[in-house]
Amino acid sequence: MNACVRAVVRTALYLGIDVYGIKYGYNGMIEGDIYKMKSYSVSNILQRGGTILKSARSNEFRTKEGRQKAFDHLSKRGIEGLVAIGGDGTLTGANLFYEEFGIPTVGAPGTIDNDLYGSDWTIGFDTAVNTALDAIDKIRDTANSHDRVFFVEVMGRNSGYIAIHCGIGGGAEMVMVPETSVTIKDVIETLTDGRSRHKTSHIVIVAEGGDQGNAHEIAAKVAEYLPELDMRVTNLGHVQRGGAPTSKDRILASRLGMAAVEGLINGEKNVMVGVVNDKITYTSIKLAISKSKPINQELMRLVHVMSI
Ligand code: F6P
Repeated sequence: MNACVRAVVRTALYLGIDVYGIKYGYNGMIEGDIYKMKSYSVSNILQRGGTILKSARSNEFRTKEGRQKAFDHLSKRGIEGLVAIGGDGTLTGANLFYEEFGIPTVGAPGTIDNDLYGSDWTIGFDTAVNTALDAIDKIRDTANSHDRVFFVEVMGRNSGYIAIHCGIGGGAEMVMVPETSVTIKDVIETLTDGRSRHKTSHIVIVAEGGDQGNAHEIAAKVAEYLPELDMRVTNLGHVQRGGAPTSKDRILASRLGMAAVEGLINGEKNVMVGVVNDKITYTSIKLAISKSKPINQELMRLVHVMSI
């Protein structure tokens, strides 16, 4: 997100526009935690994970009074346009705010989940996948040396993007995602079949939020049927949300940040900037938050074929 903040600030200044940073997301807007940014405010942050503006989930912004306070703080400073970087929750808030107060807003998709309609990629996804892959490669060493089965849980609240990409990049035998129902029976069959073909170790990637439970629950159910297998569970958790961004994320975030400001200048009002087929696009925020982005079934098939 830092790379995106930097791009927004630098583009605005390049175009001769004043730019303010709002700390802690919508909370900062409500509290008036807003400060004028200069070019040096975003020096040396491109390569750092997280966000210098900090982040928060805001309950008060869900109330009309909270949003009114936020609007008053923006008006006081003469702020005429908003760039909101975040995922589903951020964009839902932005849409409501625009509908009530009409302040032109461009959302930039910032979530490791890659689950927003209107952009092929979201900021943080590539870094999260690469971080997870690094861990999976290391886990594989134990799986392989000890002939074990590993269930590795990755993030993606309602979305299997991280899991599928980790499955392909990490050479997993199986991927369980919320979008496609893979049952415990399927897992048992895959493991049994693999062993019969002299596969000595297996990695199963489990996306959080799937309908079969979390990785621990799945492993426990499988163990009831295959007690002879030596199984382990690893939940990669929040390591996926941090660390230096990959080159792909830095470039994506920079492109989206610049395009967000340019969008505002060109009169965009309630849209999410995205990259589709490597081109900058603007999709109505309403659509971005209401339409689901389907996972690529071809990638699911690829996992399956590669695990032969
Ligand atoms: O929505 C992005 C996400 O990273 C999900 O993948 C994950 O479930 C969630 O955020 C974690 O949120 P928190 O840090 O609040 O636990």
